[in-house]
Amino acid sequence: MGQFIKSGDELIQVLILIVLILTAIILLVVVLNMYSVINKIIAHKEGRVIEPFSFSKWWQKEAGTTIPVEKEEDILLNHDYDGIRELDNHLPPWWVKMFYATIAFAVVYLGAYHVWNITPLQEEEYQLAMDEAKKEVELFQSKMANTIDEKTVKLLVDDSKTVNSGKEIFTSKCAACHGQTGEGGVGPNLTDEYWLHGGTINDIFKTVKYGVPEKGMIAWQATLKPNEIQSVSNYILSIQGTNPPNAKAPQGEKSAATATDSTSAKPVAAL
Ligand code: HEC
Repeated sequence: MGQFIKSGDELIQVLILIVLILTAIILLVVVLNMYSVINKIIAHKEGRVIEPFSFSKWWQKEAGTTIPVEKEEDILLNHDYDGIRELDNHLPPWWVKMFYATIAFAVVYLGAYHVWNITPLQEEEYQLAMDEAKKEVELFQSKMANTIDEKTVKLLVDDSKTVNSGKEIFTSKCAACHGQTGEGGVGPNLTDEYWLHGGTINDIFKTVKYGVPEKGMIAWQATLKPNEIQSVSNYILSIQGTNPPNAKAPQGEKSAATATDSTSAKPVAAL
């Protein structure tokens, strides 16, 4: 049961349901008892004797009567399939009762599922479960995104979604100082192999996150979410070696092929 019950509310609902079912069973037993007592009183007044309940007698009645062999001629149907003939026996009462029970069930089922829509149909149920799972995944991802730091940042230069969102951030927040194409301006050229603060994804993440305030590079951790810093850092690595026009002269140390990811140590392509 544990995997179906997710919250305290649901637990309370299940408990209420169990109590309701138990109450219904007790009520049923009481009513049946009262019925048999009243029956006995009436029978006593009328001078009848009520026989105690016997399962075998009850079953004999429910199983129905079969016609004795000598009387079968009377109920023989007048068709013949290669010598196989059929008797028109009455259906056994237990079978007929079950049949009516299925009709009653069908009415309740139809009402619950298709008329009053008390419970969702399979397809809706599937959709609801999918929506819930999607929310859980999003929640998980947003949690993960906020735990990214300079140690866990991933090299995702090949992931166009990351790079594109990084480009958007770069154009709106960074281009003013680093140029529209990263060629440099107030800030250094970000497309060459020279770095003041290191050219690995971890170094870049760190520079963007904490900034170099005394030199005019803003600390972005208050403005950008960790996953946004990851995107923009990957965008910077993706424009490596693009040689934009009007590129600012190199600053810092040359550190080709050091743009590695702390987890995979994979060199960045086209450095
Ligand atoms: C106000 C101007 C300004 C803005 C806006 C700015 N930067 Fe900078 N950035 C600088 C300066 C100046 C430096 C050089 C710091 C130094 O000399 O140590 C720098 C350095 C960097 C470096 C280090 C480069 C190296 O050679 O190590 C990176 C990476 C960087 N910026 C990324 C960004 C990103 C990403 C953004 C946008 C989110 C951004 N910058 C926005 C001015 C800016």
